[in-house]
Amino acid sequence: MTQVADTVADLRLLLAAIAPHTGVVHLGDDAHRLGLVPTMGALHDGHLSLVRRARDECRVVVVSVFVNPLQFAPDEDLARYPRDLTRDVALLDGLADVVFAPDAATFTPPERRTTVSVAGLTATLEGASRPGHFDGVTTIVAKLLNVVAPDRVYFGEKDFQQLAVVRCMAADLDVPAAVVGCPIVRDADGLALSSRNAYLTAAQRHDALALSRALREVADTWDGDATSARRRLRRRLDGAPGVRVDYAEVVDPETLAPLEGVGAGPAQALVAAVVGTTRLIDNTRLEPAVRA
Ligand code: PAF
Repeated sequence: MTQVADTVADLRLLLAAIAPHTGVVHLGDDAHRLGLVPTMGALHDGHLSLVRRARDECRVVVVSVFVNPLQFAPDEDLARYPRDLTRDVALLDGLADVVFAPDAATFTPPERRTTVSVAGLTATLEGASRPGHFDGVTTIVAKLLNVVAPDRVYFGEKDFQQLAVVRCMAADLDVPAAVVGCPIVRDADGLALSSRNAYLTAAQRHDALALSRALREVADTWDGDATSARRRLRRRLDGAPGVRVDYAEVVDPETLAPLEGVGAGPAQALVAAVVGTTRLIDNTRLEPAVRA
């Protein structure tokens, strides 16, 4: 049965009981692996795919559920972000060993003075549109890595830049956990799963399909020319009803630097747009078609 801890002290007690050979004192062998899946709750199949992967690969699985106030700007949706811990715990029953759900006042107290900040990678894309967002993410992820001390930590590729930023932080700070990226999960019509999809009306949800369709078209016609792919992506989204484009980019998947012209290496197309009042992001890998 899934157990719930709502303080760091409780979590440590639980882990000492059920995972004594994992984390900071782990023996390094697979049978004792501890996995962490950080989430903000409002769980959907995308989150559950991360938890299943962790379940397959680890003996003990911890899922954190914390709507992190540090990663929301004052004009963003912190207050209305969906929260339903009872439902989340029920969904995790049998999948996760522990749900860590601290409250904001104690996990991010007003007197805290430390911020974990990754330079460079956070300056563009989401970082340009949401200043301070990634400092909030990396500060909380660093705290979670410290309190759980996992061997593996799982993130979805939908937040592609977040994954790159966390990988960078983990490498720079010698975090012993392996950072595992997991594929985007989509609805049957292509919409990438997101807790924020709950804000969309039926008409807006229909309009939102423009993001995944534009990405798929660019991926299907990818010929290595980043400049023309970016132009087509942007044109396609600018012409989509109900969609206000923030960015449509083609970048190097490692450095996130914009690519120009024809190149030989891999590329990643990323988009962000507002539909109604909801900001959505999506992305896809661009690679040459494999011909049979
Ligand atoms: O991806 C998310 O849900 C959040 O950014 C994370 C990683 C849980 C940090 O608050």
